[in-house]
Amino acid sequence: MDGTKVIAVVGATGAQGGGLVRAILDDPAGGFVARAITRNVDSPKARELADLGAEVVAADIDDEASLERAFAGAHGAFCVTFFWDHFSPEKEIQEARNMALAAKAVGLRHVVWSTLEDTRRWVPITDDRMPTLMDSYKVPHFDGKGAADQIFRDLGIPTTFLLTSFYWDNLIHFGMGPKVGADGRLAFTMPMGNARLPGIAAADIGRCAYGIFKNGDELVGKTIGVAGEHLTGEEMAAALSVALGREVRYNAIEPADYRGLGFPGADDLGNMFQFKRDFESEFCGARDPAVARTLNPRLMTFSSWLEANAGSIQVE
Ligand SMILES: NC(=O)c1ccc[n+]([C@@H]2O[C@H](COP(=O)([O-])OP(=O)(O)OC[C@H]3O[C@@H](n4cnc5c(N)ncnc54)[C@H](OP(=O)(O)O)[C@@H]3O)[C@@H](O)[C@H]2O)c1
Repeated sequence: MDGTKVIAVVGATGAQGGGLVRAILDDPAGGFVARAITRNVDSPKARELADLGAEVVAADIDDEASLERAFAGAHGAFCVTFFWDHFSPEKEIQEARNMALAAKAVGLRHVVWSTLEDTRRWVPITDDRMPTLMDSYKVPHFDGKGAADQIFRDLGIPTTFLLTSFYWDNLIHFGMGPKVGADGRLAFTMPMGNARLPGIAAADIGRCAYGIFKNGDELVGKTIGVAGEHLTGEEMAAALSVALGREVRYNAIEPADYRGLGFPGADDLGNMFQFKRDFESEFCGARDPAVARTLNPRLMTFSSWLEANAGSIQVE
């Protein structure tokens, strides 16, 4: 044994996990090696990680035995779920349980669990400020993750709870970029009023996770929130105008109107934005960019992210 610590990374071919794998590979003297977990070791993305020097292994977070095999012998694991693949908080909770049970079975020393708030702590399902969705959730893609925190605690897994933020990449991949309105002008639509939205380059979440593993035991049991910047819709529209070279105005609609936009998950996202707007100081307070920058000195700002990515934002 040379003392190098293996980090098993769920979602390694995706946004968060991919950021972590690359952060480990970028720091060959850092004392860690990356074990990339994928359902298909022969996919182009998996092969690319192998070519870059990662160990690539197969596992599915719906199959606990496969996770035990993939976690075996590792020091730590990065655990993340994929809500938008299935839209089920119950499935996310079961998948978190599978990862926690596998971590316990093989005795991992450090797990970073990519989580979000259970918003029902602030807005109980009896509270009619926002509609209850799927019978028992307010923000389903938050609440399931937050509820799953307790599974890691109950099983005694040495866990750091990583509170993530809105990906700026959503402006490219999630249909949230500026759109040409009926008036022919470009508008960036978000139901946040004048509240600030903590945002981050998705890959920086993984880079911050690497900083957490490097800090070791010090951050076990802690909740760490990360963001690149907290920006209002007006500030985001102004930065987009500069980056795209075209005026972008901020279109601050009401959460109820956002919920009614009709695309899959619009109600969940409408509630999410309302939660972030109405609990702005707590939500922003839990995600300090200075903490994220300590963990990841390369942390991007919105402007630096736009500089690198504006060409990929479709505005037609
Ligand atoms: N969009 C946002 O602003 C935002 C902000 C904060 C948090 N989040 C949360 O981030 C999570 C998604 O993370 P991400 O964006 O990093 O994901 P992603 O980029 O969509 O990557 C998902 C990767 O995970 C793998 N995967 C999917 N299902 C799997 C399974 N059953 N078992 C094992 N691997 C599986 C896939 O790889 P293979 O095909 O190679 O197996 C895929 O490449 C969601 O739960 C979302 O709620 C999103």
